[in-house]
Order: sequence, then structure tokens, then C-alpha cells
Amino acid sequence: MEVKLAKTAGFCFGVKRAVETVYEQAAQPEQLPIYTFGPIIHNEEVTADLEKKGVRIIHSEEELRKLEKGTLIIRSHGVGEHIYKMAEEQNLHLVDATCPFVKKIHKIVKEASDKGDYIIIIGSKEHPEVQGICGWCHGEYCVISTEEEIRALSIPKEKKVTVVSQTTFNLVKFKYLVAVLEKICYNLYIVNTICNATSERQVEAKQIATEVDSMIVIGGKTSSNTQKLYEICKEECKNTYYIQTAKDLETVQLEGDVIGITAGASTPKNIIEEVQANVRFKF
Ligand code: F3S
Repeated sequence: MEVKLAKTAGFCFGVKRAVETVYEQAAQPEQLPIYTFGPIIHNEEVTADLEKKGVRIIHSEEELRKLEKGTLIIRSHGVGEHIYKMAEEQNLHLVDATCPFVKKIHKIVKEASDKGDYIIIIGSKEHPEVQGICGWCHGEYCVISTEEEIRALSIPKEKKVTVVSQTTFNLVKFKYLVAVLEKICYNLYIVNTICNATSERQVEAKQIATEVDSMIVIGGKTSSNTQKLYEICKEECKNTYYIQTAKDLETVQLEGDVIGITAGASTPKNIIEEVQANVRFKF
């Protein structure tokens, strides 16, 4: 029996860095209490483990306003500029684990809007990363994700427009929307800020799924990127299974001699290793 584990399974660089930062801070008693602005990753096992170590999640600015001491950790998605100011005013120790690729977008929109550019963010309005990027725009800006939204824009033709993207936005859709924008704006500066960690994981998962008899996709129930990985693999390999932990292997009927494994962006390494080790007992 052969097990093919995807090299890109699990945490991307930015999430890995953010999770490690929280564990490092939690290991220093003088930093407690520790708060993360939103869950550091969408994985209940990890957040429950961190809670045992004294890490609490805050979900809103109202909650942040009530904090009087401790450490505030910014997760990989990043936050708007005003959150840094709030943390400073409240004398909180701020630890910034914003992914450097997201930080770069903050810098682009801040500098461009300081010069008077109109900012267009291609992405989903509800996504925390996009909300954070909006919080670095010092002038006019908008968030769009459809052609109709572009057609509804009324930006003066002579205005310089800087365009960035949510890091996880679909590249094909981004290129299409930029082509639409080029027809209505004459002074465009486009920066493709899509991170390829997600697409690399999807390309590798698809490739492995074509080479195996059964495929296992590991990730949280509500993780949309894991769901997407599952759909991609299922198209290539009908024996594809979506599991959360090694325990779920009991419910899975693996077929064939070659088994593939991949995992969503918020699946910790220990869960992936446990599945990898336990798959062998199924035979
Ligand atoms: Fe991950 Fe940072 Fe890319 S958080 S998906 S490496 S932008």
C-alpha cells in the first residue's frame, strides 16, 4: 500500500506563522491575558487548546474597548489601522501576526490613497481580510466582486485608480473584472495581490487525486477552502472522503492500494500526521 501526502496540505505560510506566534506568546506568563482579534484559525481543536493556555478570542471593537491589560494578537487576515490605535490607547501589548502578503496590500492602499487615488478592492465585502484592507484606505474606495458592481461605479475619468485584490480571490475572475475595469477607467494602476498558496494546494490535490484509488481530504466542517478541495478531488477520484480527524477514518471505506491525502488551510500538522499513520491500519 502506498500513501501520497500532498506537500501543500494544511497551513499556508501566513497561518502557520500566526499560530506559532500565539503559542510563543502563550508560553510567556507575563504576556497573559492574551486575546486574538477573531479566531486565529477556523479549527476548534486548536482554539480549544489555546483557550486552555489562557488565550481568549474577542469578536468586536466593543469587546476590545473593554480590555484594560494584556496582549492583543492580530491574526493573519490583518485589521484596519484604527485597531492599532485603539490597542495603543488602551495600553495593550500588540503583537502583529498579519500575513506579510496582506501587510503589503495595506501599504499599497495607504500610500495610494494618501496620494489621492481612488482604491478598488476586488474581493468579498464580508471577508475580514477585505474589511481590514478597507481600514487602510485614507480616501475614497470601494469593494467589488461582480461586473454589475463595476458598471455601477461613477469614478471621474481623470481620477487615478489603484486596484488590489483579496489574497484568496479567484485569479480567472480577477483578470476578467480587471478587463471590465479597463474599459471604464483610463488611469488604472493594477496590482495583482492574489496569493498562490490556495491555488497551489488545489492544483496539487487535483494531481494526486488523478493518481490514487482513494483520496482523503481533511478539514473543519465549515471550512470553505476544504469543501472546495473536496469538490476538486471528487471530480478526479470518486472514492474521495471528507474527514475532520483520524477518528473519522472508522466511517470511511477506502478502496485500492494507493491512497492520497490532502488537507485544508486550517488543518494542523498533527491531525494530518495522525491520519497518515492511521490509514495504514485500515488495511
Ligand atoms: Fe496564507 Fe498569507 Fe497567502 S495567510 S493564503 S500565505 S496571503
